[in-house]
Amino acid sequence: MPEPDGRVLGARERILADLERILGGDGLVADPESLVAYESDGLTAYRQLPLAVALPRTTQQVAGILRYCHQHRVKVVARGAGTSLSGGALPLADGLILGLARFNRIVEIDYDNRVVVAQPGVTNLGITDAVRERGFYYAPDPSSQIACSIGGNVAENSGGVHCLKYGLTTNNVLGVELVTMAGEILRIGGRTLDAPGYDLLGVINGSEGMLGVITEVTVRILPRPATARAALLGFPSVEAAGQCVADIIGEGIIPAGMEMMDRLATQAAEDFLHIGYPLDAEALLIVEADGCQAECQDVLRRVERIARHNGANTCRISGSDDERLRFWAGRKAAFPATGRLSPDYYCMDGTIPRGALARVLGAMQDMSRRYELRVANVFHAGDGNLHPLILYNANEPGQLEKAEAFGAEILRLCVKVGGVLTGEHGVGVEKRDLMPEMFTPVDLAHQQRLKCAFDPEGLLNPGKVFPQLHRCAELGRVHVHRGRLPHPELPRF
Ligand code: LAC
Ligand code: ZN
Repeated sequence: MPEPDGRVLGARERILADLERILGGDGLVADPESLVAYESDGLTAYRQLPLAVALPRTTQQVAGILRYCHQHRVKVVARGAGTSLSGGALPLADGLILGLARFNRIVEIDYDNRVVVAQPGVTNLGITDAVRERGFYYAPDPSSQIACSIGGNVAENSGGVHCLKYGLTTNNVLGVELVTMAGEILRIGGRTLDAPGYDLLGVINGSEGMLGVITEVTVRILPRPATARAALLGFPSVEAAGQCVADIIGEGIIPAGMEMMDRLATQAAEDFLHIGYPLDAEALLIVEADGCQAECQDVLRRVERIARHNGANTCRISGSDDERLRFWAGRKAAFPATGRLSPDYYCMDGTIPRGALARVLGAMQDMSRRYELRVANVFHAGDGNLHPLILYNANEPGQLEKAEAFGAEILRLCVKVGGVLTGEHGVGVEKRDLMPEMFTPVDLAHQQRLKCAFDPEGLLNPGKVFPQLHRCAELGRVHVHRGRLPHPELPRF
Protein backbone atom coordinates (compact mmCIF):
# COMPACT_ATOMS: atom_id res chain seq x y z
CA MET A 1 0.00 0.00 0.00
CA PRO A 2 1.44 3.43 -0.89
CA GLU A 3 2.17 5.97 1.86
CA PRO A 4 -0.08 9.04 2.16
CA ASP A 5 2.43 10.93 0.01
CA GLY A 6 2.21 8.29 -2.70
CA ARG A 7 5.59 6.58 -2.09
CA VAL A 8 5.79 2.78 -2.13
CA LEU A 9 8.17 1.56 0.55
CA GLY A 10 10.41 -1.52 0.66
CA ALA A 11 10.16 -3.95 3.62
CA ARG A 12 12.79 -2.18 5.78
CA GLU A 13 11.44 1.30 5.07
CA ARG A 14 7.93 0.07 5.78
CA ILE A 15 8.96 -1.27 9.19
CA LEU A 16 10.87 1.90 10.02
CA ALA A 17 7.96 4.11 9.00
CA ASP A 18 5.59 2.07 11.17
CA LEU A 19 7.92 2.12 14.15
CA GLU A 20 8.39 5.84 13.78
CA ARG A 21 4.65 6.27 14.01
CA ILE A 22 4.57 4.29 17.29
CA LEU A 23 7.55 6.13 18.76
CA GLY A 24 6.96 9.60 17.44
CA GLY A 25 9.54 12.42 17.19
CA ASP A 26 13.11 11.39 17.88
CA GLY A 27 12.35 7.84 18.98
CA LEU A 28 13.95 5.92 16.12
CA VAL A 29 17.60 5.77 15.05
CA ALA A 30 18.13 4.35 11.59
CA ASP A 31 20.95 6.17 9.84
CA PRO A 32 24.10 4.05 9.53
CA GLU A 33 26.45 6.54 11.25
CA SER A 34 24.31 6.70 14.37
CA LEU A 35 23.78 2.93 14.39
CA VAL A 36 27.52 2.39 14.77
CA ALA A 37 27.20 3.41 18.45
CA TYR A 38 25.08 0.28 18.97
CA GLU A 39 27.09 -2.23 16.95
CA SER A 40 28.52 -4.01 20.01
CA ASP A 41 28.35 -4.09 23.78
CA GLY A 42 31.07 -4.77 26.37
CA LEU A 43 32.16 -7.80 24.34
CA THR A 44 33.73 -5.72 21.62
CA ALA A 45 35.22 -8.68 19.75
CA TYR A 46 31.83 -9.04 18.00
CA ARG A 47 30.10 -6.31 16.04
CA GLN A 48 26.93 -6.09 14.01
CA LEU A 49 24.83 -3.12 12.86
CA PRO A 50 21.15 -3.55 13.78
CA LEU A 51 18.17 -2.91 11.54
CA ALA A 52 17.41 0.18 13.64
CA VAL A 53 17.30 1.33 17.25
CA ALA A 54 14.06 2.24 19.02
CA LEU A 55 14.31 4.55 22.02
CA PRO A 56 10.90 4.50 23.69
CA ARG A 57 10.00 6.67 26.69
CA THR A 58 6.99 4.81 28.07
CA THR A 59 5.91 1.27 28.85
CA GLN A 60 3.01 1.77 26.46
CA GLN A 61 5.46 2.53 23.65
CA VAL A 62 7.51 -0.56 24.53
CA ALA A 63 4.31 -2.62 24.40
CA GLY A 64 3.36 -1.00 21.08
CA ILE A 65 6.73 -1.75 19.51
CA LEU A 66 6.76 -5.34 20.73
CA ARG A 67 3.21 -5.92 19.57
CA TYR A 68 4.12 -4.57 16.15
CA CYS A 69 7.33 -6.61 15.92
CA HIS A 70 5.46 -9.70 17.05
CA GLN A 71 2.85 -9.21 14.34
CA HIS A 72 5.46 -8.62 11.65
CA ARG A 73 7.98 -11.18 12.90
CA VAL A 74 10.71 -8.64 13.54
CA LYS A 75 13.40 -9.82 15.99
CA VAL A 76 14.12 -7.63 19.01
CA VAL A 77 17.24 -7.25 21.16
CA ALA A 78 16.75 -5.20 24.34
CA ARG A 79 19.67 -3.03 25.44
CA GLY A 80 20.33 -1.15 28.66
CA ALA A 81 23.67 0.63 28.96
CA GLY A 82 25.38 -1.83 26.62
CA THR A 83 27.97 -3.01 29.15
CA SER A 84 27.24 -6.75 28.84
CA LEU A 85 30.47 -8.72 28.72
CA SER A 86 28.94 -11.78 27.04
CA GLY A 87 27.36 -10.10 24.01
CA GLY A 88 23.86 -10.10 25.52
CA ALA A 89 23.00 -6.89 23.66
CA LEU A 90 24.84 -7.74 20.44
CA PRO A 91 22.53 -6.67 17.59
CA LEU A 92 21.14 -8.80 14.79
CA ALA A 93 21.34 -7.54 11.22
CA ASP A 94 17.62 -8.15 10.80
CA GLY A 95 16.63 -7.21 14.35
CA LEU A 96 15.58 -4.07 16.16
CA ILE A 97 17.55 -2.82 19.16
CA LEU A 98 15.12 -1.74 21.86
CA GLY A 99 17.18 0.74 23.90
CA LEU A 100 15.99 1.56 27.41
CA ALA A 101 18.30 4.55 27.92
CA ARG A 102 15.37 6.94 28.27
CA PHE A 103 13.88 4.94 31.11
CA ASN A 104 16.22 6.71 33.52
CA ARG A 105 13.99 7.83 36.40
CA ILE A 106 13.76 6.68 40.00
CA VAL A 107 10.02 6.09 40.26
CA GLU A 108 9.72 5.88 44.03
CA ILE A 109 11.79 5.57 47.19
CA ASP A 110 9.83 3.70 49.82
CA TYR A 111 11.84 3.74 53.04
CA ASP A 112 9.03 2.10 55.02
CA ASN A 113 9.36 -1.02 52.89
CA ARG A 114 13.06 -0.36 52.27
CA VAL A 115 12.72 -0.55 48.49
CA VAL A 116 13.48 1.62 45.50
CA VAL A 117 11.33 1.41 42.37
CA ALA A 118 13.45 2.36 39.37
CA GLN A 119 13.13 2.46 35.62
CA PRO A 120 15.47 -0.04 33.95
CA GLY A 121 17.86 2.56 32.50
CA VAL A 122 18.84 3.92 35.95
CA THR A 123 22.46 3.04 36.65
CA ASN A 124 23.31 0.61 39.41
CA LEU A 125 25.14 3.38 41.29
CA GLY A 126 22.23 5.75 40.61
CA ILE A 127 20.11 3.70 43.02
CA THR A 128 22.65 4.02 45.81
CA ASP A 129 23.06 7.74 45.05
CA ALA A 130 19.31 8.23 45.42
CA VAL A 131 19.25 6.84 48.98
CA ARG A 132 22.74 7.72 50.19
CA GLU A 133 21.72 10.74 52.29
CA ARG A 134 19.42 8.58 54.40
CA GLY A 135 22.27 6.08 54.97
CA PHE A 136 21.05 3.34 52.62
CA TYR A 137 22.58 1.62 49.59
CA TYR A 138 21.94 -1.03 46.96
CA ALA A 139 24.29 -3.95 47.66
CA PRO A 140 25.16 -5.71 44.35
CA ASP A 141 27.97 -3.70 42.77
CA PRO A 142 29.34 -4.94 39.46
CA SER A 143 32.60 -3.20 38.55
CA SER A 144 30.73 -1.31 35.83
CA GLN A 145 28.30 0.11 38.39
CA ILE A 146 28.82 3.73 37.31
CA ALA A 147 27.57 2.84 33.83
CA CYS A 148 25.60 -0.41 33.89
CA SER A 149 21.83 -0.20 34.22
CA ILE A 150 19.58 -1.96 36.71
CA GLY A 151 17.49 -3.50 33.91
CA GLY A 152 20.65 -5.02 32.46
CA ASN A 153 21.64 -6.22 35.94
CA VAL A 154 18.35 -8.12 36.17
CA ALA A 155 18.75 -9.54 32.65
CA GLU A 156 22.24 -10.82 33.45
CA ASN A 157 21.75 -11.47 37.17
CA SER A 158 24.87 -9.37 37.76
CA GLY A 159 27.13 -9.80 40.73
CA GLY A 160 30.16 -7.94 42.00
CA VAL A 161 32.52 -7.80 44.93
CA HIS A 162 29.84 -7.78 47.63
CA CYS A 163 27.75 -10.72 46.39
CA LEU A 164 29.55 -13.12 48.67
CA LYS A 165 27.77 -11.62 51.66
CA TYR A 166 24.79 -9.81 50.15
CA GLY A 167 23.81 -12.00 47.20
CA LEU A 168 23.45 -11.44 43.49
CA THR A 169 20.86 -9.31 41.73
CA THR A 170 18.33 -12.12 42.07
CA ASN A 171 18.62 -11.92 45.87
CA ASN A 172 18.00 -8.18 45.90
CA VAL A 173 15.18 -7.71 43.38
CA LEU A 174 11.64 -7.96 44.68
CA GLY A 175 9.57 -7.13 41.64
CA VAL A 176 9.59 -6.20 37.96
CA GLU A 177 7.27 -4.89 35.31
CA LEU A 178 7.87 -6.83 32.13
CA VAL A 179 6.50 -6.56 28.60
CA THR A 180 6.23 -9.80 26.66
CA MET A 181 7.00 -10.14 22.97
CA ALA A 182 3.24 -10.13 22.30
CA GLY A 183 3.02 -6.72 23.98
CA GLU A 184 1.39 -7.81 27.23
CA ILE A 185 2.39 -5.91 30.37
CA LEU A 186 3.04 -8.15 33.38
CA ARG A 187 3.85 -7.37 37.00
CA ILE A 188 5.89 -10.04 38.71
CA GLY A 189 6.71 -10.02 42.43
CA GLY A 190 6.12 -6.88 44.48
CA ARG A 191 7.68 -5.11 47.46
CA THR A 192 7.94 -8.02 49.83
CA LEU A 193 9.46 -11.47 49.74
CA ASP A 194 7.52 -14.47 48.54
CA ALA A 195 4.86 -13.23 46.17
CA PRO A 196 2.10 -15.77 45.53
CA GLY A 197 2.23 -18.08 42.50
CA TYR A 198 5.23 -19.55 40.72
CA ASP A 199 8.55 -17.84 41.40
CA LEU A 200 8.63 -16.19 37.99
CA LEU A 201 10.91 -13.50 39.34
CA GLY A 202 13.60 -16.13 39.80
CA VAL A 203 13.16 -17.03 36.15
CA ILE A 204 13.34 -13.44 34.92
CA ASN A 205 16.58 -12.72 36.79
CA GLY A 206 19.34 -13.88 34.47
CA SER A 207 17.01 -14.54 31.52
CA GLU A 208 19.34 -12.55 29.24
CA GLY A 209 16.65 -10.58 27.45
CA MET A 210 14.99 -13.70 26.07
CA LEU A 211 11.71 -13.74 27.99
CA GLY A 212 10.53 -10.15 28.01
CA VAL A 213 11.59 -6.51 28.19
CA ILE A 214 11.90 -5.13 31.71
CA THR A 215 10.33 -1.69 32.12
CA GLU A 216 10.49 -1.28 35.91
CA VAL A 217 12.48 -2.86 38.74
CA THR A 218 11.82 -2.88 42.49
CA VAL A 219 14.97 -3.50 44.53
CA ARG A 220 15.68 -3.93 48.20
CA ILE A 221 17.98 -1.35 49.80
CA LEU A 222 20.07 -1.90 52.92
CA PRO A 223 21.29 0.36 55.70
CA ARG A 224 24.95 1.13 55.11
CA PRO A 225 27.13 -0.74 57.62
CA ALA A 226 28.64 1.49 60.32
CA THR A 227 32.19 0.66 59.28
CA ALA A 228 34.15 -1.34 56.78
CA ARG A 229 37.80 -2.35 56.93
CA ALA A 230 39.91 -4.38 54.58
CA ALA A 231 42.95 -6.61 54.82
CA LEU A 232 45.55 -6.72 52.05
CA LEU A 233 47.25 -10.10 52.06
CA GLY A 234 50.18 -11.24 49.90
CA PHE A 235 50.99 -14.95 49.44
CA PRO A 236 54.03 -16.75 48.09
CA SER A 237 51.85 -19.06 45.99
CA VAL A 238 48.38 -19.23 44.46
CA GLU A 239 47.85 -22.50 46.33
CA ALA A 240 48.46 -20.78 49.67
CA ALA A 241 46.06 -17.94 48.82
CA GLY A 242 43.44 -20.44 47.62
CA GLN A 243 43.77 -22.43 50.83
CA CYS A 244 43.42 -19.24 52.85
CA VAL A 245 40.14 -18.45 51.05
CA ALA A 246 38.82 -21.95 51.76
CA ASP A 247 39.89 -21.75 55.42
CA ILE A 248 38.22 -18.36 55.94
CA ILE A 249 34.92 -19.69 54.61
CA GLY A 250 35.41 -22.97 56.47
CA GLU A 251 35.72 -21.07 59.73
CA GLY A 252 32.25 -19.62 59.21
CA ILE A 253 33.39 -16.13 58.27
CA ILE A 254 31.52 -14.48 55.42
CA PRO A 255 33.52 -11.42 54.45
CA ALA A 256 31.83 -8.48 52.73
CA GLY A 257 34.22 -9.14 49.84
CA MET A 258 37.12 -11.49 49.16
CA GLU A 259 38.98 -10.90 45.92
CA MET A 260 42.17 -12.31 44.47
CA MET A 261 44.61 -11.01 41.87
CA ASP A 262 47.50 -12.96 40.42
CA ARG A 263 50.98 -11.61 39.93
CA LEU A 264 50.43 -10.21 36.44
CA ALA A 265 47.19 -8.44 37.40
CA THR A 266 48.81 -7.09 40.59
CA GLN A 267 51.77 -5.76 38.65
CA ALA A 268 49.48 -4.15 36.05
CA ALA A 269 47.34 -2.48 38.72
CA GLU A 270 50.42 -1.26 40.58
CA ASP A 271 51.99 0.21 37.43
CA PHE A 272 48.70 1.95 36.69
CA LEU A 273 47.76 3.36 40.10
CA HIS A 274 50.83 3.00 42.39
CA ILE A 275 48.81 1.64 45.29
CA GLY A 276 51.74 0.08 47.12
CA TYR A 277 50.72 -3.54 46.43
CA PRO A 278 53.42 -6.08 47.39
CA LEU A 279 55.05 -7.06 44.10
CA ASP A 280 56.76 -10.14 45.49
CA ALA A 281 53.41 -11.85 46.01
CA GLU A 282 52.31 -14.60 43.62
CA ALA A 283 48.72 -13.92 44.71
CA LEU A 284 47.10 -10.99 46.44
CA LEU A 285 43.94 -11.23 48.49
CA ILE A 286 41.74 -8.34 49.59
CA VAL A 287 39.34 -9.32 52.35
CA GLU A 288 36.78 -6.83 53.60
CA ALA A 289 34.77 -6.96 56.80
CA ASP A 290 31.82 -4.66 57.49
CA GLY A 291 29.50 -4.02 60.41
CA CYS A 292 30.19 -2.41 63.76
CA GLN A 293 33.77 -1.60 64.82
CA ALA A 294 34.10 -4.58 67.13
CA GLU A 295 32.80 -7.02 64.52
CA CYS A 296 35.20 -5.75 61.85
CA GLN A 297 38.08 -5.98 64.27
CA ASP A 298 37.20 -9.50 65.29
CA VAL A 299 36.71 -10.74 61.71
CA LEU A 300 39.98 -9.22 60.46
CA ARG A 301 41.91 -10.54 63.45
CA ARG A 302 40.70 -14.04 62.58
CA VAL A 303 41.40 -13.50 58.88
CA GLU A 304 44.94 -12.38 59.67
CA ARG A 305 45.55 -15.45 61.80
CA ILE A 306 44.32 -17.73 59.01
CA ALA A 307 46.42 -15.87 56.43
CA ARG A 308 49.60 -16.15 58.53
CA HIS A 309 48.88 -19.82 59.07
CA ASN A 310 48.82 -20.16 55.26
CA GLY A 311 52.17 -18.44 54.88
CA ALA A 312 51.09 -14.88 54.00
CA ASN A 313 54.15 -12.67 53.79
CA THR A 314 52.21 -9.42 53.62
CA CYS A 315 49.36 -8.61 55.96
CA ARG A 316 48.14 -5.02 56.11
CA ILE A 317 44.86 -3.88 57.67
CA SER A 318 43.40 -0.60 56.47
CA GLY A 319 43.74 2.10 59.12
CA SER A 320 41.33 4.53 57.47
CA ASP A 321 38.58 4.52 54.91
CA ASP A 322 40.92 6.18 52.43
CA GLU A 323 43.35 3.34 52.79
CA ARG A 324 40.61 0.73 52.41
CA LEU A 325 39.44 2.40 49.21
CA ARG A 326 43.04 2.48 47.97
CA PHE A 327 43.33 -1.30 48.48
CA TRP A 328 40.19 -1.68 46.36
CA ALA A 329 41.12 0.89 43.72
CA GLY A 330 43.68 -1.43 42.13
CA ARG A 331 41.26 -4.34 42.06
CA LYS A 332 38.47 -2.23 40.61
CA ALA A 333 40.81 -0.86 37.94
CA ALA A 334 42.45 -4.21 37.25
CA PHE A 335 40.65 -4.62 33.92
CA PRO A 336 41.71 -1.28 32.40
CA ALA A 337 45.13 -1.71 34.02
CA THR A 338 45.58 -5.10 32.36
CA GLY A 339 44.25 -3.57 29.14
CA ARG A 340 47.35 -1.38 29.08
CA LEU A 341 49.54 -4.48 28.66
CA SER A 342 48.10 -5.47 25.31
CA PRO A 343 45.94 -4.03 22.50
CA ASP A 344 43.01 -6.33 23.36
CA TYR A 345 41.87 -8.68 26.06
CA TYR A 346 39.21 -11.35 26.23
CA CYS A 347 37.54 -11.54 29.63
CA MET A 348 36.23 -14.91 30.75
CA ASP A 349 33.83 -15.68 33.58
CA GLY A 350 33.78 -19.22 34.91
CA THR A 351 33.06 -20.44 38.41
CA ILE A 352 34.77 -23.30 40.20
CA PRO A 353 34.67 -24.87 43.66
CA ARG A 354 37.08 -22.88 45.83
CA GLY A 355 39.14 -26.01 46.47
CA ALA A 356 40.01 -26.25 42.75
CA LEU A 357 41.52 -22.74 42.51
CA ALA A 358 45.16 -23.76 42.55
CA ARG A 359 44.67 -26.60 40.08
CA VAL A 360 42.74 -24.45 37.60
CA LEU A 361 45.11 -21.50 37.85
CA GLY A 362 48.08 -23.84 37.37
CA ALA A 363 46.46 -25.40 34.30
CA MET A 364 45.84 -21.92 32.90
CA GLN A 365 49.56 -21.20 33.05
CA ASP A 366 50.22 -24.32 30.95
CA MET A 367 47.55 -23.25 28.46
CA SER A 368 49.07 -19.78 28.33
CA ARG A 369 52.37 -21.29 27.20
CA ARG A 370 50.65 -23.54 24.69
CA TYR A 371 48.51 -20.78 23.12
CA GLU A 372 51.41 -18.30 23.41
CA LEU A 373 49.05 -15.74 24.94
CA ARG A 374 49.45 -14.16 28.35
CA VAL A 375 46.66 -14.43 30.91
CA ALA A 376 46.04 -12.29 33.98
CA ASN A 377 43.64 -13.38 36.70
CA VAL A 378 41.38 -11.15 38.75
CA PHE A 379 38.53 -12.79 40.54
CA HIS A 380 35.86 -13.08 43.14
CA ALA A 381 37.76 -15.66 45.16
CA GLY A 382 35.06 -16.00 47.79
CA ASP A 383 32.57 -17.21 45.19
CA GLY A 384 35.16 -19.13 43.15
CA ASN A 385 34.23 -16.86 40.24
CA LEU A 386 37.23 -16.47 37.93
CA HIS A 387 37.83 -13.66 35.46
CA PRO A 388 40.83 -14.72 33.39
CA LEU A 389 41.86 -11.90 31.04
CA ILE A 390 43.46 -13.34 27.93
CA LEU A 391 45.73 -10.79 26.27
CA TYR A 392 45.82 -10.72 22.47
CA ASN A 393 46.10 -8.46 19.47
CA ALA A 394 43.04 -8.43 17.23
CA ASN A 395 45.09 -6.95 14.40
CA GLU A 396 47.29 -10.02 14.22
CA PRO A 397 45.53 -12.62 12.06
CA GLY A 398 44.44 -15.66 14.02
CA GLN A 399 44.93 -14.15 17.49
CA LEU A 400 41.23 -13.65 18.27
CA GLU A 401 40.56 -17.27 17.30
CA LYS A 402 43.41 -18.38 19.53
CA ALA A 403 42.07 -16.29 22.42
CA GLU A 404 38.60 -17.80 21.91
CA ALA A 405 40.01 -21.34 21.88
CA PHE A 406 42.03 -20.58 25.01
CA GLY A 407 38.92 -19.17 26.72
CA ALA A 408 36.84 -22.19 25.74
CA GLU A 409 39.48 -24.54 27.16
CA ILE A 410 39.44 -22.65 30.46
CA LEU A 411 35.64 -22.89 30.67
CA ARG A 412 35.66 -26.59 29.83
CA LEU A 413 38.10 -27.09 32.66
CA CYS A 414 35.84 -25.09 35.01
CA VAL A 415 32.98 -27.47 34.24
CA LYS A 416 35.24 -30.50 34.53
CA VAL A 417 36.30 -29.61 38.07
CA GLY A 418 32.66 -29.26 39.11
CA GLY A 419 32.10 -25.59 38.29
CA VAL A 420 29.94 -23.70 35.83
CA LEU A 421 30.38 -21.72 32.62
CA THR A 422 29.45 -18.33 33.99
CA GLY A 423 29.49 -16.59 37.33
CA GLU A 424 27.90 -13.26 36.56
CA HIS A 425 28.46 -12.16 32.96
CA GLY A 426 25.86 -14.39 31.36
CA VAL A 427 26.08 -16.82 28.47
CA GLY A 428 25.15 -14.49 25.61
CA VAL A 429 26.99 -15.35 22.42
CA GLU A 430 30.26 -15.78 24.21
CA LYS A 431 29.52 -19.12 25.87
CA ARG A 432 26.54 -20.21 23.80
CA ASP A 433 28.34 -23.01 22.01
CA LEU A 434 29.79 -24.32 25.26
CA MET A 435 26.38 -24.88 26.87
CA PRO A 436 26.39 -28.61 25.95
CA GLU A 437 29.50 -28.97 28.13
CA MET A 438 27.22 -28.38 31.08
CA PHE A 439 23.72 -29.32 30.03
CA THR A 440 22.29 -32.40 28.36
CA PRO A 441 20.01 -32.00 25.31
CA VAL A 442 17.10 -32.72 27.66
CA ASP A 443 18.19 -29.94 30.06
CA LEU A 444 18.52 -27.50 27.20
CA ALA A 445 15.18 -28.51 25.69
CA HIS A 446 13.53 -27.97 29.05
CA GLN A 447 15.03 -24.50 29.34
CA GLN A 448 13.70 -23.75 25.86
CA ARG A 449 10.22 -24.85 26.86
CA LEU A 450 10.28 -22.02 29.37
CA LYS A 451 11.38 -19.62 26.63
CA CYS A 452 8.51 -20.92 24.50
CA ALA A 453 6.02 -20.09 27.24
CA PHE A 454 7.04 -16.42 27.00
CA ASP A 455 8.13 -16.07 23.37
CA PRO A 456 6.96 -19.01 21.26
CA GLU A 457 8.11 -17.46 17.97
CA GLY A 458 11.64 -16.99 19.31
CA LEU A 459 11.79 -13.30 18.40
CA LEU A 460 13.39 -11.98 21.59
CA ASN A 461 17.18 -12.02 21.48
CA PRO A 462 17.47 -15.16 19.31
CA GLY A 463 20.92 -16.60 18.84
CA LYS A 464 21.94 -16.00 22.45
CA VAL A 465 22.37 -18.61 25.20
CA PHE A 466 21.07 -21.69 23.31
CA PRO A 467 23.45 -23.47 20.93
CA GLN A 468 20.50 -24.99 19.10
CA LEU A 469 17.11 -23.39 18.54
CA HIS A 470 14.28 -25.89 18.45
CA ARG A 471 10.87 -24.95 17.16
CA CYS A 472 8.56 -24.96 20.17
CA ALA A 473 6.27 -27.59 18.64
CA GLU A 474 9.23 -29.96 18.29
CA LEU A 475 10.47 -29.66 21.85
CA GLY A 476 8.26 -32.46 23.13
CA ARG A 477 10.20 -34.92 20.99
CA VAL A 478 13.65 -33.89 22.08
CA HIS A 479 14.06 -36.50 24.78
CA VAL A 480 13.02 -39.24 22.34
CA HIS A 481 15.46 -38.08 19.72
CA ARG A 482 18.18 -37.18 22.24
CA GLY A 483 18.10 -33.63 21.00
CA ARG A 484 19.20 -34.37 17.46
CA LEU A 485 16.27 -32.73 15.71
CA PRO A 486 16.62 -30.59 12.63
CA HIS A 487 16.63 -27.00 13.81
CA PRO A 488 16.35 -23.60 12.20
CA GLU A 489 19.58 -21.84 11.32
CA LEU A 490 21.04 -19.84 14.17
CA PRO A 491 21.34 -16.14 13.40
CA ARG A 492 24.86 -15.15 12.34
CA PHE A 493 26.73 -12.26 13.90
C1 LAC B 1 34.55 -7.60 37.66
C2 LAC B 1 33.51 -7.60 36.60
C3 LAC B 1 34.05 -7.32 35.26
O1 LAC B 1 34.55 -8.49 38.46
O2 LAC B 1 32.76 -8.75 36.61
O3 LAC B 1 35.38 -6.69 37.69
ZN1 ZN C 1 33.15 -9.90 38.25
